Amino acid sequence: MKYDMEFFEHHWMPFTSNRDFKSDPRMVVRGEGVYLYSHEGERILDGSSGLFCCAAGHSRPEIAEAVYSQLKELSYVAPFQLAQPLSFELARRIAALTPAGLDHIFFGNSGSEAVETAVKIAYAYHYARGEGQRHRFVSRERAYHGVNLAGVSLSGMMKNRQAFGPGLPGVVHMRHTWLPENRFVKGQPETGMELAEDLERLAQQLGPDTIAACIVEPVAGSTGCLVPPKGYLDRLREICDGHGIVLIFDEVICGFGRLGTPFGADAFGVIPDIMTMAKALTNAAQPMGAVAVNNKIHGTITTSAVDGAIELFHGYTYSAHPAACAAGIATLDIFEKEKLIERAADLSGYFLEQIFALSDIAMITDIRGYGLFAGFDLEPGEAPGVRGLDFQKRLYRNGLHLKMTGDSGLVAPPLISEKRHIDRLCDILRRTLADY
Ligand SMILES: Cc1ncc(COP(=O)(O)O)c(C=O)c1O
Repeated sequence: MKYDMEFFEHHWMPFTSNRDFKSDPRMVVRGEGVYLYSHEGERILDGSSGLFCCAAGHSRPEIAEAVYSQLKELSYVAPFQLAQPLSFELARRIAALTPAGLDHIFFGNSGSEAVETAVKIAYAYHYARGEGQRHRFVSRERAYHGVNLAGVSLSGMMKNRQAFGPGLPGVVHMRHTWLPENRFVKGQPETGMELAEDLERLAQQLGPDTIAACIVEPVAGSTGCLVPPKGYLDRLREICDGHGIVLIFDEVICGFGRLGTPFGADAFGVIPDIMTMAKALTNAAQPMGAVAVNNKIHGTITTSAVDGAIELFHGYTYSAHPAACAAGIATLDIFEKEKLIERAADLSGYFLEQIFALSDIAMITDIRGYGLFAGFDLEPGEAPGVRGLDFQKRLYRNGLHLKMTGDSGLVAPPLISEKRHIDRLCDILRRTLADY
């Protein structure tokens, strides 16, 4: 295949510096286990599980076969007023993993759609209980909640919002939880819990009964793995309970073992009312997102409709798509059979130790981490993100794929990784940084 400018002409790539990429392409043509293979035949260790999604490793035949058999049997059924059995089976399997009480699963096709769905369920819940005046959402600086307009409004990343108009009205942001004093702290920082008081202050400033929901990622992922300070999430839960505010955890990255537990909620012992998930749910072999909703919210919405009426006017053409359900079930089978969550928990200590050993490198200004997830910051170059992209490209040439956001690196190896993969990953990071 000839990868010239003409070949690249028509695909407008997402979140990519298109001109730069097309003049220096990094094409991946195969994946297996923890490795990707480039068009030039190079083997590349996947240090970020794709985009935090290929927990069971790349191109798992069990998932491919499950999807193929399903597509031959039934490739599509309208998901409104009709269904196919796998959606109920997958929902049951997910509900068995989620914390007690979050027993009702709504399907979409991505993390962004899961966030959009969670926002609408929060609105609908308050509407159903006669509190339709609750129109505000509290989110957080440095949050990432996907790219649909609700998610963009909730996100706390300026570049993701700047060009896209006013967004969802009534969104306010708490401060993020990164504190300079917590640089190079492994796991949950001891200090910073008081930042949860931002929610109470916003409630007092805007009126607690105007706030529909508070949404946070248990560990803020995309902007650099910001681990919540001890007590922070518990305090958010307490404030939400005090004011009838729905607490949403966006578990799109944290879910399915990334933190060594089924969900972030389990890692930190705080149970939200609604939880979003996607990514590792299907090992990224098919697009799918889902929202787990607690019995109270689900019951309030469903019983508010008269018999025979639709309860929630929301859903996607591809909600609970048969191929995605088949991929989800096959993925959860692998999780069970290979004890992936336990493996992540077992490897976490070694992983964090090796990653934090990089703190002697001058160009690294901070490292954070929890479970099988870590973030590090590079001293910025001439403009924010320029060094990050350059570093990402150098890593790739040295045999490592790593997700960079600006000048922060996000390390999230597949849960099937072994110590030797972690060693290789850290070795490439160190070697590449030494070249600067
Ligand atoms: C916490 C969180 N929410 C939502 C999303 C959006 O997911 P998607 O890209 O599948 O729409 C992401 C993606 O990285 C995420 O990290």
